[in-house]
Formats: sequence, C-alpha cells, structure tokens
Amino acid sequence: MTTRVITNIAELTTNDETLGLGPMGRLHDAAMVIDERYVLWVGPNADAPAADKLIDAHNSAVIPGFVDSHTHLVFAGERSDEFEARMSGTPYDGGGIASTVAATRAASSDDLRRLSHHRLSELLAGGVTTVEIKSGYALDVAGESRLLDVAGEFSDEVTFLGAHVVPEEYAHDREGYVDLVRGAMLDACAPKSRWADVFCDRGAFDVDEARAILVAASDAGLQLRVHGNQLGSTGGVALAVELDAASVDHCTFLSEEDIEQLRASRTVATLLPGADFSTRADYSSARRLLDGGCVVALATDCNPGTSYVTSMGFVLAIAVRDMRMSFDEALWCATRGGAKALRRDGVGHLSVGADANLVILNAPRAAHLAYRPGAPLVRQVIVAPSASWFSHNASITDE
Ligand code: NIG
Ligand code: FE
Repeated sequence: MTTRVITNIAELTTNDETLGLGPMGRLHDAAMVIDERYVLWVGPNADAPAADKLIDAHNSAVIPGFVDSHTHLVFAGERSDEFEARMSGTPYDGGGIASTVAATRAASSDDLRRLSHHRLSELLAGGVTTVEIKSGYALDVAGESRLLDVAGEFSDEVTFLGAHVVPEEYAHDREGYVDLVRGAMLDACAPKSRWADVFCDRGAFDVDEARAILVAASDAGLQLRVHGNQLGSTGGVALAVELDAASVDHCTFLSEEDIEQLRASRTVATLLPGADFSTRADYSSARRLLDGGCVVALATDCNPGTSYVTSMGFVLAIAVRDMRMSFDEALWCATRGGAKALRRDGVGHLSVGADANLVILNAPRAAHLAYRPGAPLVRQVIVAPSASWFSHNASITDE
C-alpha cells in the first residue's frame, strides 16, 4: 500500500478526544500519514515520518471530510418558483413535493443518474466524503425501488422514504397507502436500503401511521431515521426516541420534554439549517440541544423543495451566525455528529485507524469556513477507497 505524509498542516482537526486536546483533538504545525485506506499517524510536523509520497499542505488547515447524513438528491425538476413565492410570504406545507414526484416519475434512470452525479460533485467540491441518500420522490413500488437503485450506485447509506407524503392517487385512501408502504413497497425496497425514514409531520404522516411503517421496516431489518418536528410539535421526536431511531431530523420545533428525551437516548438530533433558511422558518434551537447535552448533527437536506443546498460551508456559516453554535461545535456536528447520526465509527474523525477521508483547505484555520462564507475554501479532498462514489471521484495529487 502506498503511504502518504501530509506535512505543514497549520491546524489539524482530528475530532479525536483521546488525544487529550479537547473534543476537537486539534494540533497546530502538524503532519499526518495515511495509506490508501486509513489514518496511520498524526503528530507534530517536526516528527513526521517518511512515506512513499508527500503532500505539502503549505500551512493550511486540514479537517475530517464532512458527513452529510441527510439528502434527497435523486430527483428531477426544480422548484425555484415555489422558493420565490415563499420569499414573498407563502408558507411551506410540503404541497410542492407532488410536482417533484411527477418530474421524477417521468425522468429516465440515466437522467436521474446524471442529475445525482452532478449534485454529488457539488457536495464533494465542498468537502463532503460520506453521504446519505433517500428515495421518496416516486411513491410507487417500482419507482421507489428504482430511486434506491440509483442511490445505491453512489452510496451505501441508502434510505427508503416511501412514506414521504401520500401521493395524489391515494389522496382518498391514506390507509391504503400506509399498507402499501409497509407491505409490497417495503418488500421491494428493504433489500436495497440500510435505513427507513418517515416524514412524520403536519401534512405528511401522523405518529400512528409513522410508527406502523417504521415498525414494519425494523422487522424487515432496516434501521430507522425520522423526519420530525419540522412544521410543528407533531410528536416525531418522541416517536424517534421510542423506536431508537439513529436520528430525528429537522427539530425546528422542540419542547423541553423533547430535549430531555433526546438527551436520555441514542437518537441524534440532526439540524438542517438550509431548510429553515429556504422556508423562512425559525432556526432550530441548537443551543438548547447542545446545552441540554444532546448529540447534534448538521446536514444539507439537499432537495428541490426546502433546501437545494449542496454546501456544508453554507450550513456551517448559518449554524455559527444564526444558530449561535461555536465554530468548533458546528464543525464537530457536520463531521463526527453526522457519523453518529449514521451510526458509523470510522468516519467523521481523523484518529489513527479511521478512514482516510480528509479535506485540505485554502485557509490557515478551519473557522474560515464560516468566516468567509461563499469562498471556495476546499483545496483538496482525499477519500479512502470504498464502495462509495466519492472514493472514485476525489483525486489525490502528490507533489
Ligand atoms: O426534508 N420535509 C420533508 N421532506 C423534505 C422536503 C421535501 C420537498 O419539499 O420536496 C425536507 O425538507
Ligand atoms: Fe429531508
């Protein structure tokens, strides 16, 4: 295996709390050694061992690759008209999902592949090295199965979201749709997925419907995630905790009881500031969650309705500026927090033995990601080989 030493790292964030340097495990004037799979060594630049190849970071910051634990990036069409209407006061109610379903059903698999590839390229350019991808824009058995096939070409973190909303053809038979999702659709989709998710909210599925679908999915061997409390205090957080879901996502509305339940659980609260930005919602109470001892993740929620966002830098900037997270909290939540939301141990940090997924920035400190919003601060992304699309598309440039 070829080894590489990365030298002259002005600021290295490892997220390795075992180094005794705080939760960010941050070193200055550092170096690290990786092979084609793993981090082998981390330490002072002056002690850097020799390796087969050299990458000179030229006094830049290095961070773990972002773990984007929530996207819906397999879709066709776009909804900028809906965004414009929202900016002039029309509230978001999920009604626009139907137009994306129509466009996605009509698209060829090649088109869906090409569109997904393009969105993934944007994520990678912004430093994402692990991504979760949901279905949810076909809402029939063959269509959901097809979206999962496309998603599976890009990631192992594939989520069945047949319960996104009730499609128009079942508008007068909600029960029939719930039975379809937890029956024939689940049978077709479970073998292609690691996760199941339900949009448990106003205008989508109520707690009892969501529970029935999630329990069936769990019985079929899937692990669980929940879209909850985006549009109201609708019980999604409590349901996610009750079912030991890995994550409950959005959490725009949170009661004290929700926070207490999350704190006492293994369920991560995944915040999606891009969605609150694009729907003009209040931002989630990140401070209450963090101060209450909950584990928090940050993700893009890339989708055409509420958050056509592929930049984790943008997400960090909002989290710091408007949600009052410290920069380090936001960076941790977008890396290690995302990994926890996917129940993954080997990504989201740069401890010795972790996957060699890292980002070399065009900046001396990682905080520039929030300090210089919009600037192209990712110089180079390195991704450990795996089944993931990222490992085939990130380049390693040696000097
Ligand atoms: O995470 N809220 C539910 N699902 C997506 C948005 C879907 C859409 O509007 O197309 C979300 O925000
Ligand atoms: Fe979502």
